[in-house]
Amino acid sequence: MQPRSDVLAALRGRSVVLCVTGGISAYKAVEVCRRLVDAGAHVAPVLTDDAQQFVGATTFSALASEPARTSLFAGPEAIPHTRLGQGADLVVVAPATAKVIGKYAHGISDDLVTATLLATRAPVLVAPAMHTEMWEHPAVVDNLALLAARGVHVVPPESGRLAGGDVGAGRLAAPERIVAAAAEVLSRSGDLADLRVVVTAGGTREPIDPVRYIGNRSSGKMGYAIADAAAARGADVVLVTTVHRPVHPRVRVEAVVTADEMAAATLAAAESADVVVMAAAVADFRPKAAAPAKLKKADGVPEIVLEPTPDILRLLGERKRADQYLVGFAAETDDVQENAAAKLAAKRVDLMVGNDVRSEDSGFEVDTNRAVLLDADGGVEEFGLVTKVRLADLILDRVRTPHPRQGAPE
Ligand code: CTP
Repeated sequence: MQPRSDVLAALRGRSVVLCVTGGISAYKAVEVCRRLVDAGAHVAPVLTDDAQQFVGATTFSALASEPARTSLFAGPEAIPHTRLGQGADLVVVAPATAKVIGKYAHGISDDLVTATLLATRAPVLVAPAMHTEMWEHPAVVDNLALLAARGVHVVPPESGRLAGGDVGAGRLAAPERIVAAAAEVLSRSGDLADLRVVVTAGGTREPIDPVRYIGNRSSGKMGYAIADAAAARGADVVLVTTVHRPVHPRVRVEAVVTADEMAAATLAAAESADVVVMAAAVADFRPKAAAPAKLKKADGVPEIVLEPTPDILRLLGERKRADQYLVGFAAETDDVQENAAAKLAAKRVDLMVGNDVRSEDSGFEVDTNRAVLLDADGGVEEFGLVTKVRLADLILDRVRTPHPRQGAPE
């Protein structure tokens, strides 16, 4: 689908460093460059030596806003990477080879492209392109996951014809998709800079004895995606979590284990927060008294008496300031919307994310979700299958711009 022209407006007058690395699809970066310039961006191209095996720097110099740079040392400036990195509103790497993704993920800076990537504080968008075998290699998958966790934006490749006549996943995304993604990143960057956001993630563990606990299947992926996205959009983020994964460097992580610990950390952090997102799967019950020593099989089947844990979201709802925005999750197996609406009202939250945890592509452990967003004013927005990373941005969009009233709540 063609991006709407108002989407591209975010590019007008912005400085974009376009890094081109060495793959056959480097020729398509010429089109990316032209479209960025047409949308009103100031484009500074940087080519690696490998890129110049496929396309000449002169071509980019002719189309871009300033001459193409190709070396840390050859140009008139003493330290081009810091000037480029500091002056950029956005850095785009298209195509991004497995090599540059690997170097960037591991902090290796041995040419002008990688030095600029490390020198910049601007958002970075990478558009990978490579053969299917390389795209699917665990090293590349892990490196990209690391970059995504640090807030780097990724335009995934498409499936299609590759160099040498092979067909498969790995073809550079179409130039118009890359340019639309660049505009989207720019329109978002910094839009939450005035907000302090608290996010919870993971499932709590309620001890039975020193080695056993009552837990649940939550992987924390949704909470981490929200914390990453909020930080990338400029928010000051505290993440209260039971699980540990790579996260955006500006997120402050508070590690907890039990519902009690999560309640204490979250309620304390919420006092100065503008937004609280309860994405954690908090145990509803815990053993009344954890055994001080390991329960032994020889002592027979243990009788474990349970008691309720604090309902953190309910407590947050009771204490909510008028200027605070509270987001809850409702993990449901049946009647998602109805049950989510009931929890929204009962816990006095502003936005409830109902998600279907029964289907295989939604809920626990997977990277995707099927969600419905319900707000306290009766707004209802249903999404089909989306990645958790995408859903995080959709939730934060709603936090930034609450939904217009669509009718009274039932
Ligand atoms: N929640 C919480 N504290 C609890 C239990 C849940 O803060 N002790 C929060 C969750 O983080 C989530 C929301 O409440 O944002 C709804 O959680 P969910 O498990 O779907 O619902 P429950 O209220 O626990 O009800 P039930 O398990 O009966 O569906």
